[in-house]
Amino acid sequence: MKVGILSGGGDAPGINAVIRAAVRKGIVYHKFEMIGIRDGWHGLLENDTFPLTLESISGILPKGGSILGTSRTNPFKRRNGARKILKNTDKLGLDAVIVIGGDDTLTVAYKLYEKGLSCVGVPKTIDNDLWGTDYTFGFNTAVSIATEALDRLHSTAEAHHRVMIVEVMGRNAGWIALEAGIAGGADAILIPEIPFDIDKVCKYIEARRKRGITFSIIVVAEGAKPKGGKEIVYSKTVDEFGHAKLGGVGYYVGKEIEKRTGIETRVVVLGHLQRGGSPTAFDRILATRYGVAAIDLVKQKKFGRMVALKGNKILSIPLKEVATRKKTADLKLYELASVFFG
Ligand code: F6P
Repeated sequence: MKVGILSGGGDAPGINAVIRAAVRKGIVYHKFEMIGIRDGWHGLLENDTFPLTLESISGILPKGGSILGTSRTNPFKRRNGARKILKNTDKLGLDAVIVIGGDDTLTVAYKLYEKGLSCVGVPKTIDNDLWGTDYTFGFNTAVSIATEALDRLHSTAEAHHRVMIVEVMGRNAGWIALEAGIAGGADAILIPEIPFDIDKVCKYIEARRKRGITFSIIVVAEGAKPKGGKEIVYSKTVDEFGHAKLGGVGYYVGKEIEKRTGIETRVVVLGHLQRGGSPTAFDRILATRYGVAAIDLVKQKKFGRMVALKGNKILSIPLKEVATRKKTADLKLYELASVFFG
């Protein structure tokens, strides 16, 4: 069999570990020919591919980014995009495509599968908002980076008696804010799932001051919005999947807190730092398990499915389920986090 691999959407630490695992098992055990597809769906639209060999995957396990490149190309936004992809897959002689992606990329995979593309999905996103899997790879690394940032910000916040606002990624789901907030001891966590009341946040800060603690750390997900308000966008221009660029809610929260409490406040936006660099050991292992499971699905010709983690088991679920739902943050865990607010 000849098998292509692509990575689409925002990168996440661990993509290269998936590629390495799928290529190694594919070549050594299944005797497949493995092909890299450049920059997500763009590579299949433009026939931009290259051979993946045991040599080309050597040393990539700990590397961040993607040796394939990635993009937010949406074939359904291009003239005859879907037809072109099916035609090019044929032309390249690909019997199957492994698609590493988040909800946008995997929704495209599902739609193309319905049109005849033999594909399997691998769940990737630092946001962890993909339906059907306990964890996407990349999330653990993002949480570790955000937690380290919170630890570092504690000492400077304390020395200056300031409120420190830390804006983390999380467009529709507050997983990173929630888990990093718990791990890093945040005094309030603001997530997209629960519109926030800025007066309540100020009360948490003031309550701490009354107890003699002169600093606060607030974690806010980029998609969090004030009660009755809208999410704050950095730019209204949307990508090919209709998403505006988020960013700036941290500054909104910081200014409101300073205005209402008179306490000096600083804002840190972690942004793409959360996606860069080497994956944690957890993500390397998860990504490796996903890569092996994905190429095994191809071998079994179980197409239209995504590999997933449930408990400690790797299994697979239909892409259709992934395409139609979203996994928002666990509100029970949020309740636990709120024990430590204020
Ligand atoms: O991949 C998901 C994500 O990390 C979101 O949390 C964030 O809003 C978005 O990507 C940013 O993407 P870009 O790289 O296009 O700025």
